[in-house]
Amino acid sequence: MCGIVGYVGPKQAFPILMKGLYRLEYRGYDSAGIALIDGDLKLYKTKGKVSDLENFVKDKDTTGTIGIAHTRWATHGEPNNTNAHPHYSQSKNLAIIHNGIIENYASIKEELMKRGYHFESDTDTEVLIHLIEDIRNNEKVSLDEAVRIALNQVVGAYAIVVISKEDPDMLVAARKGSPLVIGIGDDDFYLASDATPIAEYTHDVVYLDEEEVVCVRKNRKIKIKTITNKDKTAYVQKLEMNLGQLEKGGYDHFMLKEIYEQPHSILDSMRGRVNAKKGIVKLGGISDYEQKMANADRIIIVACGTSWHAGLVGEYLFEDLARVPVEVEYASEFRYRNPIITEDDIVIAISQSGETADTLAAIELAKSKGATIIGICNVVGSSIARATHAGTYTHAGPEIGVASTKAFTAQVTILTLMALRIAHMKGTIEKSRFHRILNELEAIPEKVKETLKVDNQLKELARVFTYTRNFLYLGRGYNFPVALEGALKLKEISYIHAEGYPAAEMKHGPIALIDKEMPVVVIATNKGTYDKVMSNIQEVKARKGKIIAIVTKGDKDVKKLADYVIEVPETEELLVPLLATIPLQLLSYHIAVMRDCNVDQPRNLAKSVTVE
Ligand code: M6R
Repeated sequence: MCGIVGYVGPKQAFPILMKGLYRLEYRGYDSAGIALIDGDLKLYKTKGKVSDLENFVKDKDTTGTIGIAHTRWATHGEPNNTNAHPHYSQSKNLAIIHNGIIENYASIKEELMKRGYHFESDTDTEVLIHLIEDIRNNEKVSLDEAVRIALNQVVGAYAIVVISKEDPDMLVAARKGSPLVIGIGDDDFYLASDATPIAEYTHDVVYLDEEEVVCVRKNRKIKIKTITNKDKTAYVQKLEMNLGQLEKGGYDHFMLKEIYEQPHSILDSMRGRVNAKKGIVKLGGISDYEQKMANADRIIIVACGTSWHAGLVGEYLFEDLARVPVEVEYASEFRYRNPIITEDDIVIAISQSGETADTLAAIELAKSKGATIIGICNVVGSSIARATHAGTYTHAGPEIGVASTKAFTAQVTILTLMALRIAHMKGTIEKSRFHRILNELEAIPEKVKETLKVDNQLKELARVFTYTRNFLYLGRGYNFPVALEGALKLKEISYIHAEGYPAAEMKHGPIALIDKEMPVVVIATNKGTYDKVMSNIQEVKARKGKIIAIVTKGDKDVKKLADYVIEVPETEELLVPLLATIPLQLLSYHIAVMRDCNVDQPRNLAKSVTVE
């Protein structure tokens, strides 16, 4: 969702801010804007893409060594030029950019209107900048102090950056519920919603904590306070991100690049954590809590979207290997249905971005009831990573495409390692099976590479089904979440209606949809419920549905029935999701490209969903 960039230092801010906005495009947005100070406080904004903003400012004055820039994903007020950020204060001396929602904006607005303030936009953000200016004028305090006081009156979530014409060397920023990272250069500062706009300038970063206000000035030390006015010391961390990870590297889209990165990203998720020869699985991040996990009577997994699908695979893994009951919950449902949580519960929160508002809220709820929270996150230093008691990073590298691909396989890899570790501690897995799975895990990156060779076949298939209106995805056991994930991938980037179902459930309803127009993707790999899936394929066939089957290499039986067959290498049943997901990602990708859809930034979607 909204993206924030800020710069103060000796360089011209405009090119840094524009490049930063391009880097943040992946988060999803509908308008963009920039404010710069060079004597005057200049503000330019427009509905549309960052490239539209770039065109708009072509003949304008963009000089200045301090500035803020923003990509907006509309919440309050439609996406238009006026509602785009930044917003001026009443006097036009201040400007603000904001990510999040000010929930009590209406009452503050009413109060300010009574005192003669005028509003140009429909946004909650404009209310906040007027409030800051009001406090500054009335209480005669510095800008950072005015921001701090104002935030004490605000209910909601925010990451904000404010600049002032009267203090042209200073950026004031704050966060609560929305992320903010500060990059510390030699003699300059970079602010952003995540580290992607910062990585090419500095690797020294500070992740602002909840309810902290930061003040950075050219050639001065960073100053952080809580909104309750306590001084804080900046904790500077090293950023592990390189430029190559942020570029398309010769691929047409980030999504395709990320699909192809999976042999490496899965390997990176396992690096230093598995040693098949020695029979070791080690997850340093959760070592203090693994005994508690092993003793737990149940595990609750909370997540959204693709991460929720990974959680479902996790349920099968933990129950199968570690013999512990697992509940997998949509974070958004969990938090609002008065769930029963005890101090003995282990809650595993899964999130690529580490910023998903519903998952974060589910964590806070479970924490307040005394549960132990374990995180599985991709983004280092993210809000969820910091809100959990312990956790394991997936180390898949930045995922820029809105459709999650490599993050999913990395999450499943980590869940496999966790389940194996706990199973080993509890003694619920036979030694021979444990060793067999570890060996097979180490072979998975090569097998993923092998699986990617089906790419051309999927491209051909995409040609056949480019304009199909509906798709059904079926799977059983470990392949049921794969079916859900395949359907989600297709609908989000190609806008084709697709549904994932447990294959046996088909006859309880969806079978009514099947006719010769209906493609049915069946994940029919050779272990587990293979025979049962064969029967489900027969049922589709009998109704003239078109079968696209994902099978194990060398399969003969499904081949006799299916219209199209895609092979994946043989592996352990519980590791099949790591392979079978890949052709489904490729199918969605190629169909979306052929339909001329915006693959990396599908309509209406955001990469990190920071509002409820
Ligand atoms: O960052 P998170 O993993 O918490 O995000 C959860 C979902 O928003 C995300 O997986 C979404 O469903 C993706 N667009 C799926 O490709």
